[in-house]
Amino acid sequence: MDLSLFKLLRLSDSHNILPFDCGDADLNDFIANDAKDYIKKLLAVTYLLEDGGITAAFFCVSNDKIAIEDMDSNTQWWKRIGGSMPERKRYKSYPAVKIGRLAVDTSMQGRKLGTTLLDYIKEFFITNNKTGCMFITVDAYQQSLKFYEQNGFKYLCPKKEEERNATTKLMYYDLRELTP
Ligand SMILES: CC(C)(COP(=O)(O)OP(=O)(O)OC[C@H]1O[C@@H](n2cnc3c(N)ncnc32)[C@H](O)[C@@H]1OP(=O)(O)O)[C@@H](O)C(=O)NCCC(=O)NCCS
Repeated sequence: MDLSLFKLLRLSDSHNILPFDCGDADLNDFIANDAKDYIKKLLAVTYLLEDGGITAAFFCVSNDKIAIEDMDSNTQWWKRIGGSMPERKRYKSYPAVKIGRLAVDTSMQGRKLGTTLLDYIKEFFITNNKTGCMFITVDAYQQSLKFYEQNGFKYLCPKKEEERNATTKLMYYDLRELTP
């Protein structure tokens, strides 16, 4: 889907948020009632995609990291993250950006808008990024796992989450896949 067909903007305090319904009450509530407050509190920044009279989609992002203590075990860390780093650049954590929330209005779901937004976010953080950022992370809801899998995201600590019966799963995308 072509993003230039939409108006993409960074949410500000004075912006009048257009109607939005993605079918998930928590996500609908976030954009209507919390997104501006998150900006004021420097917790997360929200971007909106508008189409005519509605908010077609939105996502919010904040700084994050992937750290050795997040993992199931040191072996898993080594297999998934540490082992892929050049020897002189091996640390115990690496910079990331977290997609706190991402949702598409029901009228637009299933038309690759979510995929296009993920591509946009990937590009956004490897082009002219103000800080270092190696990974994108997301605490993905059960119903969106396939969506993130299809977009190249992998599971970070599946065993740990199984043990604590988590309702979301921590997934990550390695931005180095897109750099030469
Ligand atoms: C999940 C969501 C963001 C996906 O956006 P979208 O524009 O509808 O997704 P796309 O059209 O880009 O789908 C890409 C792939 O993801 C998968 N997918 C998307 N939505 C899915 C769903 N509800 N259930 C299962 N798989 C889904 C499909 O495999 C799809 O590929 P296909 O069309 O070849 O089958 C959107 O449906 C949404 O906002 N849902 C409700 C809120 C939500 O769960 N947000 C995630 C919070 S972490």
